[in-house]
Amino acid sequence: MKNKWKILIVDDDLSILRSYQKYLESEGYTVFTADDGRTGYIAIEKEHPDLVLLDINMPVKTGLELLEDLNRTFNKKDMPLIVMLTAFGDLDAAVKAMNLGAYEFLTKPVPLEKLRSTVECALETLTLKERVAYFIEPDSTPFKDTIIGRDPLMIDIYKTIGTLKGNKATILVTGESGTGKEMVAKAIHENTVPEEPFIAINCAAVPENLIESELMGYVKGAFTGATANREGKLEAVKGGTLVLDEISEMPYEFQTKLLRVIQEKDFYPIGATEKKRFNGRIVALTNKNLKELVEKGKFREDLFYRLNVITISVPPLREHLNDLEMLILHFIKKANFMMNTSIQSITKEAVDYLRSHTWPGNIRELENTIQRASIKAKDKVLTRDSFSFLVAEKKEAPSAKQNIVEELVMPEKLMPLRDVERNYIEYVLKQTNWHKGKTAELLGITRPTLDKRIEEFGLRKDV
Ligand SMILES: Nc1ncnc2c1ncn2[C@@H]1O[C@H](COP(=O)(O)OP(=O)(O)OP(=O)(O)O)[C@@H](O)[C@H]1O
Ligand SMILES: [Mg+2]
Repeated sequence: MKNKWKILIVDDDLSILRSYQKYLESEGYTVFTADDGRTGYIAIEKEHPDLVLLDINMPVKTGLELLEDLNRTFNKKDMPLIVMLTAFGDLDAAVKAMNLGAYEFLTKPVPLEKLRSTVECALETLTLKERVAYFIEPDSTPFKDTIIGRDPLMIDIYKTIGTLKGNKATILVTGESGTGKEMVAKAIHENTVPEEPFIAINCAAVPENLIESELMGYVKGAFTGATANREGKLEAVKGGTLVLDEISEMPYEFQTKLLRVIQEKDFYPIGATEKKRFNGRIVALTNKNLKELVEKGKFREDLFYRLNVITISVPPLREHLNDLEMLILHFIKKANFMMNTSIQSITKEAVDYLRSHTWPGNIRELENTIQRASIKAKDKVLTRDSFSFLVAEKKEAPSAKQNIVEELVMPEKLMPLRDVERNYIEYVLKQTNWHKGKTAELLGITRPTLDKRIEEFGLRKDV
């Protein structure tokens, strides 16, 4: 196996040259030698060695000069691996060599055992590199967190965003969880009024009784505890972008007031007698189907139609897998920047493996996956193995859906459908530990329907 590797030793100290050559040949490598930088360069061009052991101080041309020549004339991917041989005290030169792309440096005299392990390690990375498909170009520009994607579905989104400059139209952004709705909201802001404030509030996170004061603000004395005037977000956002995340969770009563803001462009802070103007743009986000909620009486129809004038649907990741590679490289860079990891490449196998995953958590799941793999990677390469936790998790925690299908056994005694329904709903509830959202999803029914069934059948969580 080893004799497929070609090693070139360049050193003007002939005793060293011979002893290393003899040793490495006995290890099974094919070895060439040269005794100065100039003949070394010629040998590299002629023999295409996989690895070069390169002395620094040599007549005619030094090791560093040779390295500079290689950098100038060779493509990065055609460069042999360079291991510098330095004399004691040559640290400056060694650092320079590393900056010029040398893989490693060894201080002479090098114990033969050390020489062997270094060469072996270096060539191993080469084996990996053969399978490496994608390199992260080291670049000095700071990482920028922007929307990535060239799929036509994404291009459509950029086109829509491009038409928004100069108007303040309300936008509805829909899409599954983790698809990038917030990113789209930010992109809208940056492409329209970047110098104005950007404010995001999550309607599900603000307690129902506080949403009005949060958005509209209040005047001193409006209620107990209102000891001073307080500016609401509608005012604070000025001419900027106000993001209402999880708009479906906006309290029903308050929806009328929001509708008024959108229609009239003004509002009353709590307790105020004078109106204030709203100058910003509202961008509403939702991962729910608002139309369905309207049909069920959970969301006001008039507000829905007001919001639904310009809608941006962000596709799930599985529908724009064309963008997977770009996203992977972006998230490796992001991890390097945010988590101080130093991943330089990912193998093609690993990318193919990631492509076969279904990504129910969409881009957020991909980002977390890359981050996790980057943090635990021992090397600078992400391989298929770096993602073994994806399989492990699948095995450990099969989704409730798979579990159920596998375990479903037909009852021995035939029974009425209603009883089957009751038992089955109870079974799924137990499997999900009474997570009603998940249960409804698995059963393919809505939350209210599930609630109704639970009541009808008198189902209760065992405690
Ligand atoms: N097209 C994209 N390019 C680069 N990063 C993206 C893209 N889409 C999403 N992300 C990243 O994925 C993560 C999730 O995105 P975001 O928060 O916008 O999703 P979301 O649709 O708002 O999800 P949720 O409904 O769960 O709130 C973020 O860290 C974001 O930076
Ligand atoms: Mg979000």
